[in-house]
Amino acid sequence: MSDAIRIYLTGSCEGFDKLSEALAQQPGIEVVGSSDHPGAATGALQGGHLDCVLHGTSSSTLPAHEVAAIREATRVPLLLVASGEASALLEDALGAEVADVVLLPALTENVVFAIRKATHAPRRAAGAGKREGRIVTVFSPKGGTGKTAIATNLAATLAKGGARRTLLLDLDLQFGDAAIMLGIEPEKTIFDFVNAPGELDPDKLAGYTTTHKSGLDILPAPLRPEDAELVTEAKLGRLLEVAKACYDAIIVDTSPFFHGPMLATLDRTDELLLVCSLDVPTLKNVRLALGTLEMLSFPPARVRIVLNRANTKVGMKQREVEAALEQKVTYEIPSDRAVPLSINKGAPTVMAEPGSDFARAIESMAKGVFPTEETKRRGLRLRPNVAKAAAA
Ligand SMILES: Nc1ncnc2c1ncn2[C@@H]1O[C@H](COP(=O)(O)OP(=O)(O)OP(=O)(O)O)[C@@H](O)[C@H]1O
Ligand SMILES: [Mg+2]
Repeated sequence: MSDAIRIYLTGSCEGFDKLSEALAQQPGIEVVGSSDHPGAATGALQGGHLDCVLHGTSSSTLPAHEVAAIREATRVPLLLVASGEASALLEDALGAEVADVVLLPALTENVVFAIRKATHAPRRAAGAGKREGRIVTVFSPKGGTGKTAIATNLAATLAKGGARRTLLLDLDLQFGDAAIMLGIEPEKTIFDFVNAPGELDPDKLAGYTTTHKSGLDILPAPLRPEDAELVTEAKLGRLLEVAKACYDAIIVDTSPFFHGPMLATLDRTDELLLVCSLDVPTLKNVRLALGTLEMLSFPPARVRIVLNRANTKVGMKQREVEAALEQKVTYEIPSDRAVPLSINKGAPTVMAEPGSDFARAIESMAKGVFPTEETKRRGLRLRPNVAKAAAA
């Protein structure tokens, strides 16, 4: 049997036929068949021979009946392909066990990328390890919004008690301070790793990370700002592939720019935490960043808005942020004195002040970003329409 990803196409929308033809030409993808109506394709969908279903819809809301019909026949990852205005669809799809939403027109290679992500078979040929870590990137187009505070604490929470093998990667290549926030004085950095002689592989990675007492491993930013440019996109791409094979969670802290390494990271990002705060310049830049992400064809379903210092009284409300961004805030993080206090002690807030409001917010964010089976079950009970789609 070939290693190709076997996909089946259902439904239709503007551009769907063209996409289908283009996908049929793609190496590594096999279009097994198609049907306008998923209800009529039950036989073709059943049998466990498929890797992924793409369903085209011109509806601006979730096509719940069609999703349910597909789910009744098969549990393989489902990608919705939509044309036109689809913001409501994106919202609903997030909870509906839809692996991703692709908005047309889109470059075929971006659709292939989404299919590969959804089927968890990004580079089968590369012979990566057994793990398939999730890359969560913490970004904000504005400096000082709390990226590093959030990334370090999220990573420490995920690693706690050995729950997940977690790597914190500091991609604020010039002025990264993730290590210092954790009270670590690194000997080796990402610069040393990518410039080490020989193949970049899991064994080598283990030799360049430093383990923090929370259990997380960190690969810190270069010690000298001028070394940043030697961390090239190609090397970073390889590093992320290796990291995915060795870790369950890869948390990436970033600088406020869409530079080459950031683009290479976005290509492999499963969830982008876009940090915003209650001030007009940040809001303006986050809005611009959403536009840039759209231009880069980054799947909108992978973006989560994080409102840091959400409880500050500064004459701007969360709903105004949501209106300006045309997107809901997924995670709210309160402003908390415990944060600077613990940073100055060189300890993550979730360890130094575990009961603080900030620590609790990060813990609930960790559950959202990496849901356990238990939280998934509770989520299903709370949303009957999701349960219906998922129960098949
Ligand atoms: N929720 C919060 N409550 C209180 N203080 C916070 C909070 N989040 C961040 N801070 C403080 O804001 C400052 C900036 O945070 P941080 O360094 O995490 O931002 P950043 O986005 O990583 O900045 P840079 O762009 O410079 O890397 C820190 O001193 C931190 O103590
Ligand atoms: Mg930072």
